[in-house]
Amino acid sequence: MTCSILILNGPNLNLLGTRQPEVYGPTTLADIEALCAAKADTLGINVVFAQSNHEGELVDMLHAARGVHHGIILNAGAYTHTSVALMDAISSIMVPVIELHLSNIHAREEFRKKSFIAPVAVGQICGFGAAGYPLAIDAILSYIGEAK
Ligand code: DQA
Repeated sequence: MTCSILILNGPNLNLLGTRQPEVYGPTTLADIEALCAAKADTLGINVVFAQSNHEGELVDMLHAARGVHHGIILNAGAYTHTSVALMDAISSIMVPVIELHLSNIHAREEFRKKSFIAPVAVGQICGFGAAGYPLAIDAILSYIGEAK
């Protein structure tokens, strides 16, 4: 069975490219999706890319990953710092999750240092901008034993 990874993006990440480029860089979400698709081709894996501004939709997409995807890369955006619902969803699905952020959340405002995702994630990648996405693909494949 081909290894399948879900890359899930939360609120406001649809605005990447124009949203605070001094913090998040000039790359759009479509650019990042293309980067991940190219990486998936090279590795011979399946990558599904999604974005939602709605917490409940993100919960639904996490639930739907059960039995479909082998791992998840999650940039939950601001919900990282607020969402018990996303934390509970991750705890409930038995699919490994890597927490991802473009910016270094530990070097920013105090409230961004708290992550509800971190305690239930395999690990966290942050601060590498768009390059964090392919890094996270390598990391999740290594975790699930699919690294090439
Ligand atoms: C972010 C960091 C969050 O604190 C912020 O709310 C975002 C983006 C990042 O990728 O750096 O929306 O997740």
